[in-house]
Amino acid sequence: MLLAQTPKAEFIPAENKISTSCYNLPMYPVIRPILFRLSPETAHWWLVGGLGKLSRVPGGLAALRASYPMPSDPALQPQLWGLKFPNLLGIAAGLDKTARAVQGLAAIGAGHVEVGTFTPLPQPGNPQPRVFRLPADQAIINRMGFPNRGASAAQQALAHLPRPRPYILGINLGKGKDTTLQNASQDYLTGFATLGTWADYVTVNISSPNTVGLRALQGKDYLHQLLTPLLQARAHSSHQPPILVKIAPDLTWQELDDILEVLLAVGVDGIIATNTTLARPASLQSAARSESGGLSGYPLRARATEVIRYIYQHTQGRLPIVGVGGIADVPSALEKIYAGASLLQIYTGLVYAGPALFRQIHLGLQAHLHQVGAGHISELVGQSR
Ligand SMILES: Cc1cc2nc3c(=O)[nH]c(=O)nc-3n(C[C@H](O)[C@H](O)[C@H](O)COP(=O)(O)O)c2cc1C
Repeated sequence: MLLAQTPKAEFIPAENKISTSCYNLPMYPVIRPILFRLSPETAHWWLVGGLGKLSRVPGGLAALRASYPMPSDPALQPQLWGLKFPNLLGIAAGLDKTARAVQGLAAIGAGHVEVGTFTPLPQPGNPQPRVFRLPADQAIINRMGFPNRGASAAQQALAHLPRPRPYILGINLGKGKDTTLQNASQDYLTGFATLGTWADYVTVNISSPNTVGLRALQGKDYLHQLLTPLLQARAHSSHQPPILVKIAPDLTWQELDDILEVLLAVGVDGIIATNTTLARPASLQSAARSESGGLSGYPLRARATEVIRYIYQHTQGRLPIVGVGGIADVPSALEKIYAGASLLQIYTGLVYAGPALFRQIHLGLQAHLHQVGAGHISELVGQSR
C-alpha cells in the first residue's frame, strides 16, 4: 500500500519539511497522480513489484540510494540482540509480502525490513477490495488476511538476497487461515524451520485482526503453548535468531499484563507494539471509516504509544520494544522513543509521505539529539517527557 493522496498540510510539521535541493525528492509526488488511478492494492503491488525489479537492474539500488541518501550516524544505530541496526527506522510487516522488495526498501533508507506475514502454505487472503485509504484521517483500513505465496516461495526469494546484508532482516510468521488454534503452534514451527535460517530476527504475529481467531493466541495459555515449543526449536537450531512477539493495541491492561508475564517467563527477546486496531475513533472523517478490518496510521498513534509506555514501565525496560503505529514525522517518532521504543517501524506514514520520510525523520532525530545534548538515541528510550 505504498500509495496515498497528498498529506494534510499540518501532518508534517513545518520544521520537518525537507529541502528538495539535495536529492531526488520529487519522484514520489510525480508518480502519485498516475498511481491514484489504480485501486490501492493494485498500486501497492505495482510499486513494491517495481522496487523489486529496480533492485535487480544494474545500478538500480545505487540510483535509489542516491535519491534517498541516509547518512550513517553511530548515535542513531541501536544495538539489540547482538545486532547492529544501521538506523532506528524499519519497514513494518505487511508491506513486502513477497520478500522481493527488501533491497529496494533498504536502499530508500530502511535500516531493517520485516517481511511477511508468511504462512506455511500459500493462501489468497480475503476477497478484494480489502484495503482502503482514509486520506482525511491519514489512515488505512485493511482486511487482507495474510495473502502470501507460502513459506517455500518466501524461502526461495530470501535465498536470492546477497550477503552480507547492509540492513537487518526480520521475518514475520503467522498461522494459516484454516489452521485451528490448537494446531497453530505447528504453523509457527513450520515457518521457523523453513525461514528462520534467513532471519536476523523472527516475529511471531498473533495480532492481525483479519485471520479469524488469531488474536485469541494472545491469551495466556495459548501463548505459552505456542512459544514454548518455538523457543525449544530455536535452542536446537544451528541459527538462533531473536524471537519477538507482535501484539494488538486492543488489549486490556490485564490482558497485556498476562502477555508480559508469559513473554518474560519463557524468555522471548522483544515485543512489537502494535498491530492495527479494530477501534474506530469518533474523529474519523473518511468515507471508508466503516469498512471492517484493522485501522493504521494517525488514528492509531496515541494508543500504540500508550501501549509502549505501559510495557516499558511494567517490564522496567527488560523487554526491548519495537514501536509501530502512526509514525509519520519526527514528533511521532520521538514520542515512541520517549515512551520506551528502542526501534521504530513504519507502514502507513510511508504511504502518505513517500520514501523521503526515512531521511526526514533520521535528520530530525539527529537534530533532537544535538538539541538535548544526548550522545546516543538509547539514552532517550523510556525517558517519558
Ligand atoms: C495494508 C496493510 C497490511 C498489513 N499486513 C500486515 C501483516 O501481514 N503482518 C503484520 O504483522 N502486520 C501487518 N500490518 C500492520 C503493520 O505492520 C503495522 O503494525 C500497522 O500498520 C501500524 O503501523 P502504521 O500505523 O505505521 O501503519 C499491515 C498494515 C497494513 C496497512
